[in-house]
Amino acid sequence: MAQVMDIGVDLGTASVVIYGKNKGIVLDEPAVIAFDRESRAVLAVGHEAYRMLGRTPSNIVAMRPLRNGTIDDFAMATGMLNYFVQQVVGKRLFLGGPRVVLSLPAGVNEVERQSITASLFSAGARRTHLMERPMAAAIGAGLPVGETYGSMVVDIGGGMTEIAVISKGRCVLRDSVKIGGDKLDDAIIKYIRLKHNMLIGEMTAEDLKVNIGSALQLPEQLYMEVTGRNLISGLPKVLRITSDEVTEAIEGPLEELMESIHAVLEQTPAELAADIFDNGIVLTGGGAHLSMISQAVSKTLKIDCRVAENAHECVARGCGLTLENWSEYGRFIGSRNQMRK
Ligand SMILES: Nc1ncnc2c1ncn2[C@@H]1O[C@H](COP(=O)(O)OP(=O)(O)OP(=O)(O)O)[C@@H](O)[C@H]1O
Ligand SMILES: [Mg+2]
Repeated sequence: MAQVMDIGVDLGTASVVIYGKNKGIVLDEPAVIAFDRESRAVLAVGHEAYRMLGRTPSNIVAMRPLRNGTIDDFAMATGMLNYFVQQVVGKRLFLGGPRVVLSLPAGVNEVERQSITASLFSAGARRTHLMERPMAAAIGAGLPVGETYGSMVVDIGGGMTEIAVISKGRCVLRDSVKIGGDKLDDAIIKYIRLKHNMLIGEMTAEDLKVNIGSALQLPEQLYMEVTGRNLISGLPKVLRITSDEVTEAIEGPLEELMESIHAVLEQTPAELAADIFDNGIVLTGGGAHLSMISQAVSKTLKIDCRVAENAHECVARGCGLTLENWSEYGRFIGSRNQMRK
């Protein structure tokens, strides 16, 4: 009988990443679902649904069921998750079903956590363990989480950023703020509207951020042409945006982010703070790929900072590594979070 693959899952507000035990990353798709407005029948999930965002006919809705770190549409969120899980493990769930280590956004409440676990169970999962996101991110980034040693991990996602100090297998301090990639995109839209009287879409703003955006001014200016709607004439218009403009646009939310990291550092016990000063802050999540972000953290907080390898995959990787090294990391899943229906 073929063994069903156990999986580590990062259900994010921007993307879903799945790590197959002894396989590595097996799925990485946008957390987007498209459905029929009337019947709510699902039409597309992941990449295909992402392409429909903002350009669907009126009878189709393409949406992100998780936004701002919380769940917007519960049925669609679980439908999307179960679809991805089945895509990875196949339909042979009657052979026992996979064991799942799952990480959820901080804003998902206890009732929703239980319901997601129950829904995974009905979709065929044998057992689901919930792992705290900063812990998963730290394991995925290769930090020494089990040691009597302080590590700081900052996971910058689409909807929110989680900041944590980890020592001896637990989060000693933890904070989450609703500032992530989405807030940066919003700030770019607002900036271009105010400065150029032009309205651009969310995807255009994200393109600007990813392609020419930078947390600090770049030594050499970059440019990108974008199309938007002129707010005075109402007509489409092409505009050339500079990287310095994007840096200026995202300054506000980034400053708030730095303040939140600073506040956690201030509360960190002296010995652990000394460890963090020695070893620096580690950034994970898709937002950590923003150009010059680690340099901006170092400059503002006067502490070394580095971006973890494959930052965007760290949480899923941490969940998967927990399955692979259960005797080492399994104990970092609190008993409260071990659920079986
Ligand atoms: N090269 C890049 N530069 C800047 N931002 C980027 C880059 N690549 C990805 N991002 C941003 O990272 C964010 C998505 O990160 P990620 O996939 O880690 O989020 P998530 O885990 O789904 O969200 P959350 O953790 O809030 O639930 C998006 O806002 C995206 O625009
Ligand atoms: Mg994330």
